[in-house]
Amino acid sequence: MAVIARHCPNITVTVVDISAERIAAWNDSDLDNLPIYEPGLAEVVGKARDKNLFFSTEVDKAIQEADIIFIAVNTPTKTYGKGKGMAADLTYVEQCARRIAKVATSDKIVVEKSTLPVRTAEAIQTILEQSPHNAQFEVLSNPEFLAEGTAVADLFKSDRVLIGGRRTPKGEQAVQALVDIYANWIPREKIVTTNVWSSELSKLVSNAFLAQRISSINSISAICEATGADVEEVAAAVGKDSRIGAKFLKTSVGFGGSCFQKDILNLVYLCQQYGLDEVADYWQGVISINDYQKNRFANRIQQALFNTVNGKKIAFWGWAFKKDTNDTRESAAIYVADQLLSEGAEIVVYDPKVSLARMQMDLQTLLEYRGETETDINGKLAKLYSVDSAAAACTKAHALAVITEWDVFQTQDFETIYTQMEKPAFVFDGRKILNHNQLQSIGFTAYEIGKATES
Ligand code: UGA
Repeated sequence: MAVIARHCPNITVTVVDISAERIAAWNDSDLDNLPIYEPGLAEVVGKARDKNLFFSTEVDKAIQEADIIFIAVNTPTKTYGKGKGMAADLTYVEQCARRIAKVATSDKIVVEKSTLPVRTAEAIQTILEQSPHNAQFEVLSNPEFLAEGTAVADLFKSDRVLIGGRRTPKGEQAVQALVDIYANWIPREKIVTTNVWSSELSKLVSNAFLAQRISSINSISAICEATGADVEEVAAAVGKDSRIGAKFLKTSVGFGGSCFQKDILNLVYLCQQYGLDEVADYWQGVISINDYQKNRFANRIQQALFNTVNGKKIAFWGWAFKKDTNDTRESAAIYVADQLLSEGAEIVVYDPKVSLARMQMDLQTLLEYRGETETDINGKLAKLYSVDSAAAACTKAHALAVITEWDVFQTQDFETIYTQMEKPAFVFDGRKILNHNQLQSIGFTAYEIGKATES
C-alpha cells in the first residue's frame, strides 16, 4: 500500500487495522519503530505518510470513503475442525467481507490481496451482496508475489502484476480501474489479467513451483553427499539450461516462511476436495522432502558428534527463515532445534534480528501443537539460549550449525572462534556460505550441505 501511495500521489491510501498498537507503530515518528522490518520500507513510508498515506483504526470511516478496498488479512493454516493442518482459515477474510457489506453505502471494488483458496471470491461476492444499503460490489483477485526481505524492491520492479476479475462488462471495468493504478509504475505488458479463478490458483501454483525447485535441489543434495558430487556445481550446470534457469536452486536446511508450506497444503487440500488424489500426493511430496531435509541435517549433526548430542552445546547461527528478515515462521531452525533438544543438546543461538522470546514462542507453539507435556516443553525451553554475537554463540560449543544465510556470518574471525570451541570443533554449514577450505585449514571438521565430507 505504501508503494501505491508513493507512486500515485493523486490517490489517498488509508491502511486500517483493528489493532491500535499496530497503527500507533505505523504512525511512530521514529521510522525505526515500524512494525515490519523490510529494507527500503521506512523510506517509502516516510515520504508518503501524512501526505497521501494514512494509518488509522477508523475502519468503518475508511470503508465508507474508499472506492477500492484491499483485503490483506492473514489466512493461516487451520488449526481446528475440517481441513485442520491443511486448509486456509478464512475467518478473518469473511469478517472483513461482512464488515464491508454492513458499512458500505456506495459501490466498491473489493480486492483479494491475501492468498486464498480458489473460489473464495465467490464467497466474498455472496456476502457482499447481502449489503443492506444496495451498494454494488465487484470482487477482484490481485495476489501478492513479493518476497520478504526484498518486498519493496520487488514492488518497485515486479516481474508481473496479476489481476483476476469477472468476464462481465462491470468486472472488466473494475479490472481496468486496478490496471490503471499499477500502470503508474509497472509497464503495461507486465500486468496480466485473467478470470478470478485463474488468478487465485496462479498464486498457489507460483509458490508451489518455487518450493518444488527447492525440494528438488535439496533432494539432489542428499545424492551429492552420497556420491561425491557437489550440489552447487550440479545446480550451476543444470541452471545454465535457459529452460530451467539458475534462480531458486540454492540448497538449504529446508525452506521456511509463512507461505510455501501453507500454500502447498492448501493446494493439496483443494486437490483432495476434487478427488484428485494423485495430484495431491505429488505436491505433498514437496513438503515431505522439505521435512526430510530438516531431519537429515539434524541427524547429520548427531551422527558426526559420535552419535550423541546429549549434554553437548550446539551453536546456531541464524533463526530467521532467511536473511534480511526477522520473520521466523516455519523456519527450519525451529525443527532442527527441536530434534537436537529432544536428544539432550543445549542450543545457543545468535540471530541479528530475532529475540530469544520469539525463538521460545516458536518452539513452544510447535511442541504444544504436537501435544508434548508441559514438563517436556519447559525442559526444552530451558536449554535454548540466545547471545548477542556470532562468536559468543560458539564459546565452549561442540559444534556450529549455520541455519540462516546472514551475510555477517561470512566475515567472522574463525581462528579465534576455533580456539574457543570444544575439540574436535565441528561446523555444519546448512547454507553453503562459509569458506570450507579455510575452515579445514584452521582445524575445523567442516560439513557442507550437498557435498561429501572428505575424510
Ligand atoms: C515467497 C515467494 O518467493 C514470493 O514470490 C511470494 O510472494 C511469497 O512467498 C508469498 O507468498 O507471500 P518468501 O516466503 O518471502 O517469498 O521467501 P523466499 O525468498 O521465497 O524464500 C522462502 C524459503 O526458501 C526461505 O527459507 C529460503 O531460505 C528458501 N530458499 C529460497 C532456499 O532454500 N533456496 C533457494 O534457492 C531459495
